[in-house]
Amino acid sequence: MKYPKEYLDEIKTRLKVSTVVSKSVNLKKRGKEFVGLSPFKTEKTPSFTVNDEKGFYHCFSTAEHGNIFDFIMKTQNLKFGEAVKYLANLAGMQPYTFSKKDEEREKKWNEYSEIFKMYVEFYHNELLKNQDFNFAKEYLKKRRLSKEDVLNFKIGFVPFNSNFYEKIKSKFDEKNIIDTGLFYFDDKKKIYVERFRDRIIFPINSITGQPIALGGRTIKENNYLAKYINSPETPFFKKGSNLYNLDYARKLSNKIEYVYLVEGYMDVVGLRSKGIENVVANLGTSLTDRQISVLNQFYDDLIICFDGDESGYKAALRAAENLIKELKPEKQISFLFLPDKEDPDSFVNKNGKDFFIEFTQENKISIHNFIFNHYKNETKNDPSSLAIFEKKIRSIAYSIKDEFIKKYVLEFFLEKLSLLTPNTAQNKNKTFYKKTRSLQSTQKHFNETKNLSSIEIKEFSFLYLIINNLELVKNYLNLLENVKLFSNENKIIYDSLLKKLQNDKPLSKNDLSLDPQILEKITQFASIKHILNKIKNEEYKILELLEEIIGDIKNHELEARIEKLESKFSKDLDESTFNEIRELKKSQKIN
Ligand code: CTP
Ligand code: MN
Repeated sequence: MKYPKEYLDEIKTRLKVSTVVSKSVNLKKRGKEFVGLSPFKTEKTPSFTVNDEKGFYHCFSTAEHGNIFDFIMKTQNLKFGEAVKYLANLAGMQPYTFSKKDEEREKKWNEYSEIFKMYVEFYHNELLKNQDFNFAKEYLKKRRLSKEDVLNFKIGFVPFNSNFYEKIKSKFDEKNIIDTGLFYFDDKKKIYVERFRDRIIFPINSITGQPIALGGRTIKENNYLAKYINSPETPFFKKGSNLYNLDYARKLSNKIEYVYLVEGYMDVVGLRSKGIENVVANLGTSLTDRQISVLNQFYDDLIICFDGDESGYKAALRAAENLIKELKPEKQISFLFLPDKEDPDSFVNKNGKDFFIEFTQENKISIHNFIFNHYKNETKNDPSSLAIFEKKIRSIAYSIKDEFIKKYVLEFFLEKLSLLTPNTAQNKNKTFYKKTRSLQSTQKHFNETKNLSSIEIKEFSFLYLIINNLELVKNYLNLLENVKLFSNENKIIYDSLLKKLQNDKPLSKNDLSLDPQILEKITQFASIKHILNKIKNEEYKILELLEEIIGDIKNHELEARIEKLESKFSKDLDESTFNEIRELKKSQKIN
């Protein structure tokens, strides 16, 4: 029986991998990970690692890899259900009792996957063995697919007059057959028709490798039929969450650092056939955050390589603007643009694996560079056009959620922008020096900020806003209630600021008698500086910004408390600690 995802997730939330593993393996902390002697092999030097953030363990000497359930199954020789029971108990949870609904869903899933398995197997074998379909084989050969590719991807062919429905209707529930999306009802003829008839089919697998949907390509040269069709959404196939070939590519993440994300089935097949196997496709849907976060469970470094045509470029731009918002410091997203009219499949077929990889190294461009260059190319060299450009790239930078990334992307944009604006002839001649100097300054800045935490940067913004809007803040002192700062240095400044603000006398920046060095530091690192400049005289917006920053600071305090409790919980596994964590998490969301 299949456990509901929420129940398994709750076990995973309650139990860190290191907590579970350290019951039988002696672990030592090393950076973000833990290391120890492999439980799968006798060894003297540790090759076994645990990463709590990713929720996985990995053994470098045996290539064993998995989550807490895999670990218990393998080391204690238990079945999945038994491992769940064991871990639920360890997490202080009740054993799961399956309801009638669970049983029904389980039964439905079993039939669903059984039908798909039969379907894929049947048409795969037809393509391989039935002489009548030699024309389909010829087509694939013409497209440079080898027999091995057909086997690897379990590609099949569904003939025009086929009727798989008749073959299976006695074995399965009618509703369950229809829910697979493999057939639709022809109202005129009153029969079920194969959705994928007269098409080459590509099975789309779940992350664990079972076929759950199909893509089908017509092999006829006409333009009234869609070239590709995909399975509709079904109870077990959600488009925005699945990626083609992920079940295979995810296993390579221990060997290769990055993964290619391409548009189509043929791109995946072509690349894998030429030896580039770390590739997935999003299949005709626009790229979703969910797809990226699924990929990020396995890979930190993503290279998006869409077709070298206008629609590929547009899709890339849409993806870039959407994905930059979610960018995290440890994750990387870049784009690879192919020469006009090429797609990854045609390009790798022409040039081979080594050239493709070399081409990637030389031509991939980071997400922020891509966005900058795109809008720059749309900009003419006149004030109005430049102003629109600056506004646009600033607003993109502001849309980034992570404070660090926001700060650096904004700085990167403004720096590049300043190099672009040819103020005077004199300035022009200095461009070279200016460039090297500012790059050095960025580097220096980066080195300095590396040692600051994101909360410190937030606090600098908070102080900067107050210092530069003393009279305004004075009228809204209630906003500052219950704000606690984290860094000691900032706390002292804040306390003295508060005292002066509470005094009735008018207050200007000079009355603050702040240490110039501290003031400089605040000014230097306040990431909201640029935003604040833009809304200089708009009190209501400034207050809104202040409220937002205060919200973030309060949230950080909650986070720190949660983190402490979580580490306590991983040791005592106490129900009340867990409930406290849950309560804190709730109030964190409201804030
Ligand atoms: N696609 C689709 N419907 C279409 C066209 C394309 O769903 N009418 C999706 C398919 O998933 C396809 C992907 O978009 O694989 C990329 O489209 P395209 O570049 O046209 O297909 P290729 O993979 O290049 O296929 P082929 O080489 O067979 O023409
Ligand atoms: Mn293509």
